[in-house]
Amino acid sequence: MRLLAPAKINLHLRVGPPRTDGFHPLLSWFATIALFDTLELTLRRPDEPGPLISLRTDRPDMPVDDRNLVVRVGTALADTPGKQPPGLPVRREGVSAILSKRIPIGGGLGGGSSDAARTLLGLNNLWGIGWSARQLSEFSSRFGSDLPFFFHGPSSICTGRGEIVRPIDPPKPRFIVLILPRIAMPTPQVYRRFDEMGLGCDNTLLDQPDWSRWTTSPAKEILPMLVNDLEAPAFSIAPQLEALRTDAQRLLSRIVRMSGSGSSLFTLYDEQDEAEHAAAMIQAQLKLDARSLQLAPKLSDDLSV
Ligand code: C5P
Repeated sequence: MRLLAPAKINLHLRVGPPRTDGFHPLLSWFATIALFDTLELTLRRPDEPGPLISLRTDRPDMPVDDRNLVVRVGTALADTPGKQPPGLPVRREGVSAILSKRIPIGGGLGGGSSDAARTLLGLNNLWGIGWSARQLSEFSSRFGSDLPFFFHGPSSICTGRGEIVRPIDPPKPRFIVLILPRIAMPTPQVYRRFDEMGLGCDNTLLDQPDWSRWTTSPAKEILPMLVNDLEAPAFSIAPQLEALRTDAQRLLSRIVRMSGSGSSLFTLYDEQDEAEHAAAMIQAQLKLDARSLQLAPKLSDDLSV
């Protein structure tokens, strides 16, 4: 089974003061983008030895044991009761997983979460568990705040610590320019700096945008309304990232935002040729990896066709 795991961006990300469990309440508009990891899942023959989930990747620096979310969620799912008749013991066949990484790690693009979510959807199918996307989404949240989003289509408002997902229409602009600085931002450290800077304010999350207006606004109208409360702490940890953002804004004469806890930067376009031209300018003038990508793309893999 061949699966595509899309990256996400946080178009808008408001963050409140930490809760008693240490997590931060969020109000965020998430959307998928056409940057994909690919995942091949194959049932092994019963006589083939190996761990329950044997993972290979094209990233030598990536762990393939249970430090990897793909292995962790798969192993946890194996013990779920599913649809077999009551009384029968749960027995799942071994699975070979081959993961090709295209989504940068530490970029605020949710790559690890997306891989894990697609793994759950794939194994649910291969093992005949028969859970709904909603059940899988609920199950997934214990493995990370970003996972549930990936069970609900291309555009959603996420609240709670990120795990409460409400699908909405995709944004009107269908193209982004994604800038990928070679900086890996550690998410927990960004949230810690957010707290140290005293940025959490109770009122932030009360401010509910008019989503129906936001989803129908063209790029130049929506960009000034988007906020990411993690930009200040991320830029405090990596001042060179703020300098890159300033350069990109000046070069494109356009607002550029950060996704999640960084380090990816993005801006929006209504027309593909404008986005391609902008990405080429960033590459040529700032010597950065910049791509023009479809926003909220249609997924087409062995689960979604
Ligand atoms: O849930 P996830 O594993 O993605 O979170 C990584 C870290 O980011 C958490 O351990 C926490 O420090 C921080 N975080 C947070 N509030 C959130 C989401 C993440 O403080 N809503």
